[in-house]
Amino acid sequence: MRRKVTVVGAGNVGATCAQVLAAHDYADVVLVDIKEGLPQGKALDINQMGAVLGYEPRVTGSNSYEETAGSDVVVITAGLPRSPGMSRDDLVATNEKIVKDVTEKTIARSPEAILIVVSNPLDAMCHVAKNVSGWPKERVFGMAGILDTARFSTFIAWETQASVKDVTAMVLGGHGDQMVPVVSATTVGGIPLAKLVGEADIDAMVQRTAKGGGELVELLGTSAWYAPGAAAAQMVDSIMLDEKRVLPCTAYLEGEYGIDGLYMGVPVRLGSGGIEAIYELDLGADEQAMLTESAGAVREVVGLLAS
Ligand code: LAC
Repeated sequence: MRRKVTVVGAGNVGATCAQVLAAHDYADVVLVDIKEGLPQGKALDINQMGAVLGYEPRVTGSNSYEETAGSDVVVITAGLPRSPGMSRDDLVATNEKIVKDVTEKTIARSPEAILIVVSNPLDAMCHVAKNVSGWPKERVFGMAGILDTARFSTFIAWETQASVKDVTAMVLGGHGDQMVPVVSATTVGGIPLAKLVGEADIDAMVQRTAKGGGELVELLGTSAWYAPGAAAAQMVDSIMLDEKRVLPCTAYLEGEYGIDGLYMGVPVRLGSGGIEAIYELDLGADEQAMLTESAGAVREVVGLLAS
């Protein structure tokens, strides 16, 4: 019997995540959404894509949670996406209710699962999932750092004309405009970025990364989905296949980086147990200051939560 991954929310991000997972062909995928027809239609389409591309997805679309029972991993993408002019934080009240409801319904049927939160505002929504589930921090965390790092890596590859495969970058902090691209931990083929690119160009890439989600919202009229969906799927892979990847994820910090009782993006090791380790980098003084500032911004949004 194949194992099971549930993706809640059959919008663009959820469907992309389901599609990438289906192509990896190791688990059944259940796609859930309240909108009638949407998860069923997207699941059917993804299944038929397998016939073209030569894999055997078993994706089920549903408006109820019965089919999600016994999931190993649940990815929560449900909630409103951003519209132009909206910050991620503008979504807090609406998406808190949605994430609370989704968490209650999924944990009741999959009590051993690992929860990956993708809904925005991401860091605050991780708090909602953790509070509602009462689950340990190892099994409740969020996707943002992989996406933000992918954006930074893309700009670095373009700027240096090197393969993106050789870019090792790291974006930490909250998933907001105060995220922290860690230049001191960024290399191209092992060569420090600062040796290859001048300060002004690095600053421009850092700024573009921090506002990367907003740039896409302006272009698309809604949030991005290809990179976010793939980033969530990468976390699922690392857990389901026990790959032990070291990836920037939104983890509950208890003193690491001088931050306590808050979800923030930091490097973690992801395996079958979920977050198996949190790594602390030696940040430069300016990077640590930016991280502390980012923590302040996240705390403000967490303070807006109803519970
Ligand atoms: C973004 C949204 C998904 O950064 O938060 O594109």
